[in-house]
Amino acid sequence: MTDQTSNQMWGGRFAAGPDAIMEAINASIGFDRRMAAQDIAGSRAHAAMLAATGVITDSDAEAIREGLLTVLSEIEAGTFAFSTALEDIHMNVEARLKALIGEPAGRLHTARSRNDQVATDFKLWVRDQLDAAEQGLVALIRALLAQAEAGADWVMPGFTHLQTAQPVTWGHHMMAYVEMFGRDLSRVRDARVRMNESPLGAAALAGTSFPIDREMTAKALGFDRPAANSLDAVSDRDFALEFLSVASICAVHLSRFAEELVIWSSAQFRFVTLSDRFSTGSSIMPQKKNPDAAELIRAKVGRIYGANTALMMVMKGLPLAYSKDMQEDKEQVFDAADNWMLALAAMEGMVRDMTANRESLAAAAGSGFSTATDLADWLVRVLGLPFRDAHHVTGSLVALAEKKGCDLPDLSLEEMQSAHADITADVYTVLGVENSVNSRVSYGGTAPQQVRAQVARWKETLA
Ligand code: ARG
Repeated sequence: MTDQTSNQMWGGRFAAGPDAIMEAINASIGFDRRMAAQDIAGSRAHAAMLAATGVITDSDAEAIREGLLTVLSEIEAGTFAFSTALEDIHMNVEARLKALIGEPAGRLHTARSRNDQVATDFKLWVRDQLDAAEQGLVALIRALLAQAEAGADWVMPGFTHLQTAQPVTWGHHMMAYVEMFGRDLSRVRDARVRMNESPLGAAALAGTSFPIDREMTAKALGFDRPAANSLDAVSDRDFALEFLSVASICAVHLSRFAEELVIWSSAQFRFVTLSDRFSTGSSIMPQKKNPDAAELIRAKVGRIYGANTALMMVMKGLPLAYSKDMQEDKEQVFDAADNWMLALAAMEGMVRDMTANRESLAAAAGSGFSTATDLADWLVRVLGLPFRDAHHVTGSLVALAEKKGCDLPDLSLEEMQSAHADITADVYTVLGVENSVNSRVSYGGTAPQQVRAQVARWKETLA
Protein backbone atom coordinates (compact mmCIF):
# COMPACT_ATOMS: atom_id res chain seq x y z
CA MET A 1 0.00 0.00 0.00
CA THR A 2 2.64 2.46 -1.04
CA ASP A 3 0.02 4.98 -2.12
CA GLN A 4 -1.00 5.63 1.48
CA THR A 5 0.90 8.33 3.32
CA SER A 6 2.75 7.34 6.46
CA ASN A 7 1.51 8.33 9.90
CA GLN A 8 1.88 12.06 10.41
CA MET A 9 2.91 11.60 14.07
CA TRP A 10 5.56 8.90 13.82
CA GLY A 11 5.89 8.22 10.09
CA GLY A 12 9.27 9.83 9.50
CA ARG A 13 11.07 6.55 8.90
CA PHE A 14 8.18 4.92 7.03
CA ALA A 15 7.75 5.02 3.26
CA ALA A 16 4.24 3.60 3.32
CA GLY A 17 1.18 3.75 5.51
CA PRO A 18 -0.12 0.77 7.49
CA ASP A 19 -2.24 -2.00 6.10
CA ALA A 20 -5.92 -1.60 6.98
CA ILE A 21 -5.75 -4.63 9.26
CA MET A 22 -2.67 -3.22 10.96
CA GLU A 23 -4.58 -0.02 11.54
CA ALA A 24 -7.54 -1.94 12.94
CA ILE A 25 -5.51 -3.95 15.42
CA ASN A 26 -3.39 -0.98 16.40
CA ALA A 27 -6.01 1.68 17.00
CA SER A 28 -7.39 2.37 20.45
CA ILE A 29 -9.30 5.55 19.64
CA GLY A 30 -12.55 3.57 19.60
CA PHE A 31 -12.33 3.28 23.36
CA ASP A 32 -9.56 5.51 24.72
CA ARG A 33 -11.48 8.61 23.65
CA ARG A 34 -13.04 8.21 27.08
CA MET A 35 -9.79 9.60 28.47
CA ALA A 36 -9.97 12.83 26.44
CA ALA A 37 -10.46 15.11 29.45
CA GLN A 38 -7.59 13.42 31.31
CA ASP A 39 -5.35 13.64 28.24
CA ILE A 40 -5.97 17.35 27.88
CA ALA A 41 -5.47 17.98 31.60
CA GLY A 42 -2.15 16.13 31.40
CA SER A 43 -1.06 18.09 28.35
CA ARG A 44 -1.99 21.40 29.94
CA ALA A 45 0.05 20.57 33.04
CA HIS A 46 2.96 19.46 30.87
CA ALA A 47 2.90 22.60 28.69
CA ALA A 48 2.71 24.92 31.70
CA MET A 49 5.69 23.11 33.24
CA LEU A 50 7.69 23.29 29.99
CA ALA A 51 7.17 27.05 29.97
CA ALA A 52 8.00 27.42 33.68
CA THR A 53 11.28 25.55 33.19
CA GLY A 54 12.16 27.52 30.04
CA VAL A 55 11.92 24.54 27.70
CA ILE A 56 9.27 26.30 25.59
CA THR A 57 8.30 29.96 25.48
CA ASP A 58 5.42 31.42 27.43
CA SER A 59 3.69 32.43 24.23
CA ASP A 60 3.90 28.88 22.84
CA ALA A 61 2.55 27.54 26.14
CA GLU A 62 -0.30 30.04 26.00
CA ALA A 63 -1.17 29.02 22.44
CA ILE A 64 -1.11 25.37 23.48
CA ARG A 65 -3.31 26.07 26.48
CA GLU A 66 -5.88 27.97 24.42
CA GLY A 67 -5.80 25.35 21.70
CA LEU A 68 -6.28 22.48 24.13
CA LEU A 69 -9.29 24.23 25.64
CA THR A 70 -10.78 24.50 22.16
CA VAL A 71 -10.13 20.82 21.51
CA LEU A 72 -11.78 19.93 24.81
CA SER A 73 -14.84 22.00 24.02
CA GLU A 74 -15.10 20.37 20.58
CA ILE A 75 -14.95 16.92 22.16
CA GLU A 76 -17.51 17.87 24.79
CA ALA A 77 -19.81 19.32 22.14
CA GLY A 78 -19.53 16.15 20.08
CA THR A 79 -18.15 17.99 17.05
CA PHE A 80 -14.65 16.50 17.22
CA ALA A 81 -13.82 14.16 14.32
CA PHE A 82 -11.96 11.16 15.77
CA SER A 83 -9.64 9.45 13.34
CA THR A 84 -8.63 5.77 13.40
CA ALA A 85 -5.56 6.57 11.34
CA LEU A 86 -4.39 8.70 14.26
CA GLU A 87 -4.55 5.59 16.47
CA ASP A 88 -5.36 6.92 19.88
CA ILE A 89 -6.67 9.83 21.91
CA HIS A 90 -3.18 11.25 22.42
CA MET A 91 -2.45 11.66 18.72
CA ASN A 92 -6.00 12.69 17.86
CA VAL A 93 -5.78 15.55 20.33
CA GLU A 94 -2.31 16.58 19.23
CA ALA A 95 -3.19 16.49 15.53
CA ARG A 96 -6.23 18.68 16.12
CA LEU A 97 -4.12 21.04 18.20
CA LYS A 98 -1.71 21.32 15.29
CA ALA A 99 -4.56 22.14 12.94
CA LEU A 100 -5.78 24.82 15.33
CA ILE A 101 -2.55 26.54 16.42
CA GLY A 102 0.14 25.36 14.02
CA GLU A 103 3.79 25.16 14.95
CA PRO A 104 3.64 25.49 18.78
CA ALA A 105 1.61 22.25 18.88
CA GLY A 106 4.71 20.38 17.78
CA ARG A 107 6.55 21.55 20.90
CA LEU A 108 4.03 20.01 23.32
CA HIS A 109 5.55 16.54 23.05
CA THR A 110 9.00 17.75 24.17
CA ALA A 111 10.29 15.72 27.14
CA ARG A 112 7.28 13.42 26.96
CA SER A 113 6.29 10.16 25.31
CA ARG A 114 2.96 8.50 24.75
CA ASN A 115 4.18 5.97 27.29
CA ASP A 116 4.18 8.34 30.24
CA GLN A 117 1.24 10.18 28.69
CA VAL A 118 -1.03 7.12 28.56
CA ALA A 119 0.01 5.98 32.04
CA THR A 120 -0.86 9.43 33.36
CA ASP A 121 -4.19 9.67 31.55
CA PHE A 122 -5.24 6.21 32.61
CA LYS A 123 -4.26 6.80 36.23
CA LEU A 124 -6.30 9.99 36.28
CA TRP A 125 -9.26 8.11 34.82
CA VAL A 126 -9.01 5.24 37.31
CA ARG A 127 -8.59 7.71 40.17
CA ASP A 128 -11.87 9.39 39.19
CA GLN A 129 -13.54 6.00 39.26
CA LEU A 130 -12.18 5.27 42.72
CA ASP A 131 -13.72 8.55 43.82
CA ALA A 132 -17.03 7.57 42.23
CA ALA A 133 -16.88 4.15 43.88
CA GLU A 134 -16.23 5.82 47.23
CA GLN A 135 -19.36 7.93 46.80
CA GLY A 136 -21.42 4.94 45.67
CA LEU A 137 -20.29 2.87 48.64
CA VAL A 138 -21.00 5.64 51.14
CA ALA A 139 -24.51 6.06 49.72
CA LEU A 140 -25.13 2.32 49.88
CA ILE A 141 -23.86 2.12 53.46
CA ARG A 142 -26.17 4.99 54.44
CA ALA A 143 -29.14 3.18 52.92
CA LEU A 144 -28.24 0.03 54.89
CA LEU A 145 -27.87 2.05 58.10
CA ALA A 146 -31.39 3.44 57.63
CA GLN A 147 -32.74 -0.12 57.26
CA ALA A 148 -30.74 -1.30 60.28
CA GLU A 149 -31.92 1.55 62.45
CA ALA A 150 -35.59 1.06 61.55
CA GLY A 151 -35.43 -2.68 62.22
CA ALA A 152 -32.83 -2.90 64.98
CA ASP A 153 -35.17 -5.12 67.03
CA TRP A 154 -37.11 -6.93 64.30
CA VAL A 155 -36.54 -10.65 64.66
CA MET A 156 -35.76 -12.90 61.73
CA PRO A 157 -34.13 -16.29 61.32
CA GLY A 158 -30.38 -16.38 61.11
CA PHE A 159 -29.07 -19.12 58.84
CA THR A 160 -26.12 -21.39 58.45
CA HIS A 161 -26.15 -23.73 55.44
CA LEU A 162 -29.37 -21.81 54.62
CA GLN A 163 -30.97 -23.82 57.43
CA THR A 164 -32.56 -21.96 60.33
CA ALA A 165 -29.87 -21.56 62.97
CA GLN A 166 -30.65 -18.93 65.60
CA PRO A 167 -32.87 -15.87 65.63
CA VAL A 168 -31.14 -12.63 64.71
CA THR A 169 -32.36 -9.09 64.17
CA TRP A 170 -33.01 -7.47 60.82
CA GLY A 171 -30.74 -4.65 61.87
CA HIS A 172 -27.94 -7.09 62.61
CA HIS A 173 -28.24 -8.68 59.19
CA MET A 174 -28.16 -5.26 57.49
CA MET A 175 -25.13 -4.28 59.55
CA ALA A 176 -23.26 -7.37 58.37
CA TYR A 177 -23.32 -5.83 54.88
CA VAL A 178 -22.32 -2.45 56.28
CA GLU A 179 -19.16 -4.13 57.56
CA MET A 180 -18.48 -5.70 54.14
CA PHE A 181 -19.07 -2.54 52.16
CA GLY A 182 -17.13 -0.63 54.82
CA ARG A 183 -14.10 -2.82 54.11
CA ASP A 184 -14.63 -2.22 50.39
CA LEU A 185 -14.63 1.49 51.12
CA SER A 186 -11.36 1.24 52.99
CA ARG A 187 -9.85 -0.79 50.13
CA VAL A 188 -10.94 1.91 47.67
CA ARG A 189 -9.29 4.58 49.82
CA ASP A 190 -6.11 2.54 50.26
CA ALA A 191 -5.85 1.94 46.54
CA ARG A 192 -6.23 5.64 45.83
CA VAL A 193 -3.41 6.58 48.19
CA ARG A 194 -1.09 3.92 46.74
CA MET A 195 -1.74 4.80 43.10
CA ASN A 196 -1.45 8.56 43.46
CA GLU A 197 2.03 9.03 42.00
CA SER A 198 2.57 10.79 38.69
CA PRO A 199 4.15 8.93 35.75
CA LEU A 200 4.40 12.17 33.74
CA GLY A 201 7.98 13.06 32.88
CA ALA A 202 9.16 9.44 32.85
CA ALA A 203 9.09 9.99 29.07
CA ALA A 204 9.52 6.86 26.95
CA LEU A 205 11.20 4.83 29.70
CA ALA A 206 14.46 6.48 30.79
CA GLY A 207 13.49 9.99 31.83
CA THR A 208 14.61 13.02 29.84
CA SER A 209 17.58 15.33 29.43
CA PHE A 210 15.35 18.41 29.49
CA PRO A 211 15.29 20.28 32.81
CA ILE A 212 11.71 19.33 33.61
CA ASP A 213 9.96 19.77 36.95
CA ARG A 214 8.05 16.58 37.74
CA GLU A 215 6.95 17.90 41.12
CA MET A 216 5.15 20.70 39.34
CA THR A 217 3.17 18.49 36.96
CA ALA A 218 2.44 16.00 39.73
CA LYS A 219 1.00 18.76 41.88
CA ALA A 220 -0.99 20.29 39.03
CA LEU A 221 -2.67 16.94 38.39
CA GLY A 222 -3.44 16.24 42.05
CA PHE A 223 -0.81 13.53 42.47
CA ASP A 224 1.01 13.28 45.79
CA ARG A 225 4.45 13.00 44.15
CA PRO A 226 6.15 11.91 40.94
CA ALA A 227 6.74 8.16 40.52
CA ALA A 228 10.34 7.48 41.50
CA ASN A 229 11.46 5.14 38.72
CA SER A 230 10.86 5.99 35.07
CA LEU A 231 10.93 2.35 33.89
CA ASP A 232 8.32 1.43 36.49
CA ALA A 233 6.27 4.58 35.88
CA VAL A 234 5.57 3.73 32.23
CA SER A 235 5.04 0.02 32.72
CA ASP A 236 3.14 -0.11 36.00
CA ARG A 237 -0.49 -1.15 35.69
CA ASP A 238 -0.78 -2.24 39.34
CA PHE A 239 -3.20 0.60 39.89
CA ALA A 240 -5.57 -0.87 37.30
CA LEU A 241 -5.12 -4.37 38.67
CA GLU A 242 -5.77 -3.13 42.19
CA PHE A 243 -8.83 -1.24 40.99
CA LEU A 244 -10.18 -4.42 39.40
CA SER A 245 -9.33 -6.49 42.46
CA VAL A 246 -11.09 -4.08 44.81
CA ALA A 247 -14.02 -3.97 42.38
CA SER A 248 -14.12 -7.77 42.23
CA ILE A 249 -14.27 -8.20 45.99
CA CYS A 250 -16.97 -5.55 46.24
CA ALA A 251 -18.86 -7.24 43.38
CA VAL A 252 -18.76 -10.48 45.37
CA HIS A 253 -20.35 -8.69 48.32
CA LEU A 254 -22.95 -7.13 46.05
CA SER A 255 -23.64 -10.53 44.54
CA ARG A 256 -24.14 -12.22 47.91
CA PHE A 257 -26.56 -9.55 49.03
CA ALA A 258 -28.35 -9.63 45.68
CA GLU A 259 -28.82 -13.37 46.08
CA GLU A 260 -30.39 -12.84 49.51
CA LEU A 261 -32.77 -10.27 48.04
CA VAL A 262 -33.77 -12.71 45.30
CA ILE A 263 -34.53 -15.38 47.91
CA TRP A 264 -36.15 -13.01 50.37
CA SER A 265 -38.49 -11.45 47.81
CA SER A 266 -39.84 -14.86 46.70
CA ALA A 267 -43.39 -15.91 47.60
CA GLN A 268 -41.91 -18.70 49.73
CA PHE A 269 -39.95 -16.29 51.94
CA ARG A 270 -41.74 -12.92 51.73
CA PHE A 271 -39.05 -11.36 53.93
CA VAL A 272 -38.89 -8.23 51.78
CA THR A 273 -40.99 -6.43 49.22
CA LEU A 274 -38.94 -4.71 46.56
CA SER A 275 -40.33 -1.46 45.23
CA ASP A 276 -41.97 -1.29 41.81
CA ARG A 277 -39.18 1.08 40.84
CA PHE A 278 -36.65 -1.72 41.16
CA SER A 279 -38.69 -4.68 39.89
CA THR A 280 -40.03 -5.82 36.55
CA GLY A 281 -43.07 -7.75 35.39
CA SER A 282 -43.40 -10.87 33.27
CA SER A 283 -44.76 -10.69 29.74
CA ILE A 284 -46.80 -13.89 30.24
CA MET A 285 -47.45 -14.34 33.97
CA PRO A 286 -49.49 -11.37 35.25
CA GLN A 287 -48.86 -12.10 38.93
CA LYS A 288 -45.08 -11.88 38.66
CA LYS A 289 -42.85 -9.19 40.06
CA ASN A 290 -39.28 -10.10 39.30
CA PRO A 291 -36.15 -8.96 41.14
CA ASP A 292 -34.24 -8.33 37.89
CA ALA A 293 -31.99 -5.64 39.31
CA ALA A 294 -30.86 -7.99 42.07
CA GLU A 295 -30.28 -10.80 39.59
CA LEU A 296 -28.22 -8.56 37.32
CA ILE A 297 -26.17 -7.32 40.25
CA ARG A 298 -25.64 -10.97 41.22
CA ALA A 299 -24.28 -11.57 37.72
CA LYS A 300 -22.06 -8.48 37.41
CA VAL A 301 -19.28 -10.10 39.39
CA GLY A 302 -18.74 -12.34 36.35
CA ARG A 303 -17.64 -9.57 34.04
CA ILE A 304 -15.88 -7.56 36.74
CA TYR A 305 -13.82 -10.50 37.90
CA GLY A 306 -13.40 -11.46 34.25
CA ALA A 307 -11.78 -8.07 33.63
CA ASN A 308 -9.48 -8.65 36.59
CA THR A 309 -8.41 -12.03 35.23
CA ALA A 310 -7.97 -10.65 31.73
CA LEU A 311 -5.68 -7.83 32.79
CA MET A 312 -3.68 -10.09 35.10
CA MET A 313 -3.05 -12.30 32.05
CA VAL A 314 -2.15 -9.32 29.85
CA MET A 315 0.44 -8.12 32.36
CA LYS A 316 1.98 -11.45 33.31
CA GLY A 317 5.35 -12.04 31.71
CA LEU A 318 5.68 -8.57 30.15
CA PRO A 319 9.30 -7.43 30.13
CA LEU A 320 10.09 -3.83 31.09
CA ALA A 321 9.18 -1.26 30.08
CA TYR A 322 6.16 -0.40 27.90
CA SER A 323 4.74 -2.99 25.50
CA LYS A 324 1.73 -2.49 23.29
CA ASP A 325 0.03 -5.35 25.12
CA MET A 326 -0.72 -2.76 27.75
CA GLN A 327 -3.18 -1.01 25.45
CA GLU A 328 -5.45 -3.98 26.26
CA ASP A 329 -5.87 -2.62 29.80
CA LYS A 330 -8.49 -0.01 29.08
CA GLU A 331 -11.56 -1.79 27.75
CA GLN A 332 -11.47 -4.20 30.67
CA VAL A 333 -11.23 -1.41 33.21
CA PHE A 334 -13.83 0.76 31.46
CA ASP A 335 -16.35 -2.06 31.36
CA ALA A 336 -15.70 -3.14 34.93
CA ALA A 337 -15.94 0.44 36.19
CA ASP A 338 -19.21 1.12 34.36
CA ASN A 339 -20.78 -2.02 35.71
CA TRP A 340 -19.45 -1.61 39.22
CA MET A 341 -20.86 1.94 39.48
CA LEU A 342 -24.17 0.78 38.03
CA ALA A 343 -24.39 -2.15 40.44
CA LEU A 344 -23.62 0.10 43.42
CA ALA A 345 -26.28 2.60 42.38
CA ALA A 346 -28.88 -0.09 41.71
CA MET A 347 -28.20 -1.78 45.04
CA GLU A 348 -28.46 1.52 46.86
CA GLY A 349 -31.79 2.24 45.18
CA MET A 350 -33.15 -1.20 45.98
CA VAL A 351 -32.10 -1.02 49.63
CA ARG A 352 -33.48 2.49 50.03
CA ASP A 353 -36.84 1.48 48.55
CA MET A 354 -37.37 -2.02 49.93
CA THR A 355 -39.78 -2.88 52.73
CA ALA A 356 -38.89 -5.54 55.26
CA ASN A 357 -42.01 -7.56 56.11
CA ARG A 358 -41.78 -7.57 59.86
CA GLU A 359 -44.51 -10.19 60.41
CA SER A 360 -43.09 -12.67 57.92
CA LEU A 361 -39.64 -12.22 59.41
CA ALA A 362 -40.96 -12.80 62.93
CA ALA A 363 -43.00 -15.86 61.92
CA ALA A 364 -39.98 -17.41 60.25
CA ALA A 365 -37.74 -16.49 63.18
CA GLY A 366 -39.68 -18.76 65.53
CA SER A 367 -39.86 -21.78 63.26
CA GLY A 368 -37.24 -24.44 62.70
CA PHE A 369 -36.43 -24.80 66.45
CA SER A 370 -34.41 -21.60 66.23
CA THR A 371 -34.14 -21.27 70.01
CA ALA A 372 -32.70 -24.74 70.60
CA THR A 373 -29.32 -23.21 71.45
CA ASP A 374 -31.02 -20.96 74.00
CA LEU A 375 -32.53 -24.05 75.63
CA ALA A 376 -29.14 -25.76 75.75
CA ASP A 377 -27.55 -22.60 77.19
CA TRP A 378 -30.30 -22.50 79.86
CA LEU A 379 -29.49 -26.09 80.88
CA VAL A 380 -25.84 -25.07 81.25
CA ARG A 381 -26.50 -21.81 83.05
CA VAL A 382 -29.33 -22.86 85.40
CA LEU A 383 -28.84 -26.61 85.91
CA GLY A 384 -25.06 -26.57 85.57
CA LEU A 385 -24.97 -29.25 82.85
CA PRO A 386 -21.82 -29.58 80.74
CA PHE A 387 -22.60 -28.07 77.31
CA ARG A 388 -22.26 -31.40 75.51
CA ASP A 389 -24.88 -33.00 77.81
CA ALA A 390 -27.14 -29.97 77.42
CA HIS A 391 -26.80 -30.29 73.64
CA HIS A 392 -27.90 -33.93 73.88
CA VAL A 393 -30.91 -33.21 76.12
CA THR A 394 -32.00 -30.38 73.82
CA GLY A 395 -31.59 -32.63 70.80
CA SER A 396 -34.01 -35.14 72.28
CA LEU A 397 -36.56 -32.37 72.92
CA VAL A 398 -36.21 -31.14 69.32
CA ALA A 399 -36.85 -34.71 68.16
CA LEU A 400 -39.94 -34.89 70.39
CA ALA A 401 -41.31 -31.57 69.09
CA GLU A 402 -40.61 -32.65 65.55
CA LYS A 403 -42.53 -35.90 66.14
CA LYS A 404 -45.43 -33.93 67.59
CA GLY A 405 -45.31 -31.39 64.80
CA CYS A 406 -44.94 -28.45 67.19
CA ASP A 407 -42.27 -25.91 68.15
CA LEU A 408 -40.13 -26.04 71.29
CA PRO A 409 -42.22 -23.56 73.34
CA ASP A 410 -45.30 -25.73 72.64
CA LEU A 411 -43.93 -28.68 74.63
CA SER A 412 -45.46 -29.10 78.12
CA LEU A 413 -43.33 -28.94 81.27
CA GLU A 414 -43.86 -32.70 81.76
CA GLU A 415 -42.54 -33.35 78.27
CA MET A 416 -39.55 -31.11 79.01
CA GLN A 417 -38.91 -32.99 82.23
CA SER A 418 -39.00 -36.31 80.38
CA ALA A 419 -35.67 -35.25 78.88
CA HIS A 420 -34.25 -33.90 82.16
CA ALA A 421 -36.09 -34.10 85.46
CA ASP A 422 -34.73 -30.79 86.84
CA ILE A 423 -36.13 -28.55 84.09
CA THR A 424 -38.47 -25.88 85.52
CA ALA A 425 -41.05 -23.54 83.95
CA ASP A 426 -38.36 -20.87 83.90
CA VAL A 427 -37.05 -22.51 80.73
CA TYR A 428 -39.92 -20.99 78.72
CA THR A 429 -38.48 -17.50 79.23
CA VAL A 430 -35.59 -18.33 76.90
CA LEU A 431 -37.60 -20.06 74.21
CA GLY A 432 -39.16 -16.90 72.76
CA VAL A 433 -37.27 -15.38 69.84
CA GLU A 434 -37.42 -11.87 71.33
CA ASN A 435 -35.75 -13.09 74.50
CA SER A 436 -33.26 -15.01 72.43
CA VAL A 437 -32.03 -11.98 70.48
CA ASN A 438 -32.24 -9.71 73.53
CA SER A 439 -29.91 -12.07 75.38
CA ARG A 440 -27.15 -11.95 72.77
CA VAL A 441 -25.51 -8.83 74.14
CA SER A 442 -21.90 -9.89 73.58
CA TYR A 443 -19.89 -7.34 71.56
CA GLY A 444 -20.87 -7.70 67.91
CA GLY A 445 -23.89 -9.84 68.87
CA THR A 446 -27.40 -9.56 67.50
CA ALA A 447 -29.10 -7.87 70.50
CA PRO A 448 -30.87 -4.64 69.44
CA GLN A 449 -28.73 -2.56 71.80
CA GLN A 450 -25.59 -3.90 70.10
CA VAL A 451 -27.04 -3.19 66.67
CA ARG A 452 -27.93 0.37 67.67
CA ALA A 453 -24.43 0.90 69.03
CA GLN A 454 -22.94 -0.23 65.71
CA VAL A 455 -25.29 2.00 63.73
CA ALA A 456 -24.21 4.95 65.87
CA ARG A 457 -20.54 4.09 65.40
CA TRP A 458 -20.92 3.91 61.62
CA LYS A 459 -22.84 7.16 61.43
CA GLU A 460 -20.03 8.84 63.31
CA THR A 461 -17.42 7.22 61.08
CA LEU A 462 -19.14 8.47 57.93
CA ALA A 463 -19.88 11.96 59.28
N1 ARG B 1 -2.60 3.83 22.73
C1 ARG B 1 -1.46 3.43 23.47
C2 ARG B 1 -1.88 2.65 24.72
O1 ARG B 1 -3.01 2.72 25.07
C3 ARG B 1 -0.69 4.63 23.87
C4 ARG B 1 0.77 4.37 24.12
C5 ARG B 1 1.44 4.03 22.86
N2 ARG B 1 2.86 4.02 23.03
C6 ARG B 1 3.64 3.48 22.11
N3 ARG B 1 4.91 3.50 22.34
N4 ARG B 1 3.15 2.96 21.03
O2 ARG B 1 -1.10 1.97 25.34
